[in-house]
Amino acid sequence: MDTINRLLFGAENKFETVLKDVVEKEIESMRATKLKKLENNEKMYNDVTNLHMYMRDCTIDTPVPIKGIVEGTIPTWLNGALFRNGPGKRSFGDMKTQHVFDSSALLRKFTIKDGKVTFQNKFLKSSMFNKNTEAQRIVMSEFGTAATDDPCKSIFQRFASYFEKNDPTDNCLVSVCPYNDELYALTETVMIHRVDKQNLDSIRRVNLKDHISIVHHTAHPHLDEDGTVYNLGMVAGSGGVQYAIMEFPNTKRGSPKTKDVFSDAKIAAKVPIRWRLNPCYMHSFGMSPNYFRHH
Ligand SMILES: [Fe+2]
Repeated sequence: MDTINRLLFGAENKFETVLKDVVEKEIESMRATKLKKLENNEKMYNDVTNLHMYMRDCTIDTPVPIKGIVEGTIPTWLNGALFRNGPGKRSFGDMKTQHVFDSSALLRKFTIKDGKVTFQNKFLKSSMFNKNTEAQRIVMSEFGTAATDDPCKSIFQRFASYFEKNDPTDNCLVSVCPYNDELYALTETVMIHRVDKQNLDSIRRVNLKDHISIVHHTAHPHLDEDGTVYNLGMVAGSGGVQYAIMEFPNTKRGSPKTKDVFSDAKIAAKVPIRWRLNPCYMHSFGMSPNYFRHH
């Protein structure tokens, strides 16, 4: 405590003494609360691991918007759409996915207009979703779920699927991000899906590797003020593995509408890893005018 006080305020003074008293009383109070919980056999921390959302198992989606019940008042100036993504369907036939990361993606849209809200959702038509639905069983392995062979496949198709296992999953169930004026669903593999902003249809699947040489990226990109998308990823080359900051410029600004939103994608910077054989997991990052901060 003394060290912290000196760092904060330098020399001893009255304010420092008062602050010290306040902090010590606060710590004492927290300690007493925890001891009481221990004595009463209560939980020490709030339960933040409600798995209900991650384990939901929707059988049908809601493609036609339904009216929501509004509690309170939504200001009339607040108009627009809120898009969300997440796991939505575990069961295919009699089989269930075995990990919270493996349910198929369910896109949701809340449309706010004139103080009213509508809701709609739609399954992302990934190849994982399509193949499992067609086979009515899990025929594509995911992070924590092993697939079984699809009985509908011919011998040749089963042989070919051995090589397909190198394909990263396209079950983009984590987030959504606007690249220019197009909306995409993301997970941490290089496969992303363009989604129709009006009806949540799956429009096209994009392999980012076709545009930028990365191994994978985070599912939480950031947008700069001019619409440029930045993300943190990993690249592999003759020098080994490196962290990379990717830049997706806003190509629609002053450019023909036909230009692909990923055509100007580039690696803006590379950062060497500390331990060559042990790159760390990257989940998200912060961004300021001068810095990227990896979490
Ligand atoms: Fe996340």
